Amino acid sequence: MKPIGVFDSGVGGLTVAKELIRQLPGEDIVYFGDTARVPYGIKSKETVIRFSIENILFLLKQDVKLICVACNTVSSFALPVIKHHFKVPIVGVITPGVREAVYATRNNRIGVIGTKGTIKSRSYELEIKQINPKAKVTAVACPLFVPFAEEGWLSGRVVLEVARAYLKPLKHAGVDTVILGCTHYPLLKPIIRKVMGENIVLIDSAQQVAIEVKKILTQEGLLNRNGKGKHKFYVSDNPEWFSGLAKRFLGEQVRGIKKVDSV
Ligand code: DGL
Repeated sequence: MKPIGVFDSGVGGLTVAKELIRQLPGEDIVYFGDTARVPYGIKSKETVIRFSIENILFLLKQDVKLICVACNTVSSFALPVIKHHFKVPIVGVITPGVREAVYATRNNRIGVIGTKGTIKSRSYELEIKQINPKAKVTAVACPLFVPFAEEGWLSGRVVLEVARAYLKPLKHAGVDTVILGCTHYPLLKPIIRKVMGENIVLIDSAQQVAIEVKKILTQEGLLNRNGKGKHKFYVSDNPEWFSGLAKRFLGEQVRGIKKVDSV
């Protein structure tokens, strides 16, 4: 059976890969992290689209049966434009997160946090409004959360102060549900909860993404239910850096990371 392809700008997509591995243990996975060009969150839409097409072409060369875009910035900027240009099914992270948030909110006030690109695209806001026109969405970019997660700064005074400043508009708006619209943010759940309060619902779309992938593979008759899948990891630069962070993002050590010279 062919593998599932997963890509992200770097290590963040491993939080999605982790859930795919948990829910689809029989599947082979090929992960590509574009570490030579990370971060995508501050790049223009045109650039993110170009990088995404190159990454998809790389995964297609690995003969994947489905592609999971494990990056919110790519899912926001590129997916709506490129999805219909490829035959292979492509699953992004926005729609699964939106569905869960609309289902979870009790007061119709939803907060969204993400990279500058994701927030600028208004992807979450537009999809939420499509399902529930009455919902009030408050969206803020939290760019410093990405380096915090990569540096392992997940708690402490500095992180707490930054989180308080970023999340102030969400508190002010009285949101009861917050979409973690960036693959790095699940690592910061405890500090976000501390600022937003114990009762806040935090939506981490990885779980819903894996459910969606499973659904599509089942419908297409491509689901691999047996055995234990093999996982391969490719990066466009610095496998050592990727390897150092992989344990925190994936929850297990990653071996045999290969550097590819051009995508
Ligand atoms: N993976 C990106 C995202 O989910 C965050 C890192 C980046 O800016 O490239 O938006």
